[in-house]
Amino acid sequence: MHFSRFGQKLCSDAGIVTLMDDLGEALRVNPHMIFMGGGNPAAIPEMEQAFEDALQATLDDPRQAQQLFGVYQPPQGDAEVLDAIATLLQREYQWPITRANIALSNGSQSAFFVLFNLLAGDYADGTKKRIQFPLAPEYLGYSDLGIHADFFTATRPAIEILPNGFFKYHVDFSQLKITAETGALCVSRPTNPTGNVISNEELAKLDALARAHQIPFIVDGAYGTPFPNILFADAQPHWNENTILVLSLSKLGLPGARTGIVIANPPIIDAFAKANTILSLACGNFGPALVRHLLADGKILALSREVVAPFYRARMEQAVASFQKHMTGLPCYIHKPEGAIFLWLWFKDLPITSEELYQRLKARGVLVVSGHHFFPGLDGEWQHAHECIRVTYCQSPEIVERGAAIIADEVRKLFTGDIAINHSVIVTE
Ligand SMILES: Cc1ncc(COP(=O)(O)O)c(C=O)c1O
Repeated sequence: MHFSRFGQKLCSDAGIVTLMDDLGEALRVNPHMIFMGGGNPAAIPEMEQAFEDALQATLDDPRQAQQLFGVYQPPQGDAEVLDAIATLLQREYQWPITRANIALSNGSQSAFFVLFNLLAGDYADGTKKRIQFPLAPEYLGYSDLGIHADFFTATRPAIEILPNGFFKYHVDFSQLKITAETGALCVSRPTNPTGNVISNEELAKLDALARAHQIPFIVDGAYGTPFPNILFADAQPHWNENTILVLSLSKLGLPGARTGIVIANPPIIDAFAKANTILSLACGNFGPALVRHLLADGKILALSREVVAPFYRARMEQAVASFQKHMTGLPCYIHKPEGAIFLWLWFKDLPITSEELYQRLKARGVLVVSGHHFFPGLDGEWQHAHECIRVTYCQSPEIVERGAAIIADEVRKLFTGDIAINHSVIVTE
């Protein structure tokens, strides 16, 4: 079967496809695997109860129930839900937004497809623009979203080694290049895969650079402020007319609802809603129906701060303790976990690639994600990109502990030379 160039790009073996295949196999087909791979959020009983209550309240109201099943959403999304989001954000953060600043999408992943292709690619004047990631590693789900090839650029981070086996990435402003060919800047905050949180100062600097170059600044808040607020570091919520803030209900515990929220200036929202209608006709009703009840009295913020964030903080601390225990004596650095649901482990001078380590761990029943997927847009080879893996700590602490033991055992064998290594796979700087 021959597909178009775009078709071939879409059905390639993208990192995100492998990751979701692994996720589906581990969580639905083969549950004995130790799943430390994809970004499925944890099941938090209090959140599940809140979702059930919201669904029940929807079903108990004949108008809402009828709309849930039998009525398409308008292009931007349900007006009452948009108003409720605007009111909440005005009240909490004094952001000057109204319904004209907000659109809903079927998950934030599809929102990024629309936004990236609106802001980068071929322009009528013959120029070509790209989306710039100021700090790689970045979310692997961005990698294949451009309709054209060569769609992204990225900047290597500065690496700070911290005490107790931690390290942290910073935006290396001395290397960040914004040119006439940059269509927008984009950061995930907290960052998937690293759990890094771009500091308030870094964010302000990126915002100022984007304005100076008259390009939008996209902030992916899938894990961040204001909800689900999976943050263990200070991160001021940020929005202004030049910012496109993309939120999601997924990491709150509703990945099945497939609901994203885009907050931007009205011309961008207008373009987004039209493009989204062409692609999807309308957004699903389930997420908006539930979130309407969670928005009432700011419940969604209270749940994020009092339930979701403490839950993941405890999981993060347990995961760090497990890895520190098992990795003793190994050249393993953990990225300082400041948010999101992952640990990012760096095995300095790993004798094989992280992809091969992923395969070896999979053969031993542990699913992780190889770090090399998380460098969309980065030019040239970089050894560091093949020395890291991402692990999620959404499973129970016991499972994470078992996973950490197996990962450490496999890595220890590599560093002590106990297993054969195919040196031809090592990538040099
Ligand atoms: C940083 C980031 N952005 C966006 C997404 C997309 O999430 P969804 O489409 O479920 O909203 C994810 C999913 O894992 C993510 O990690």
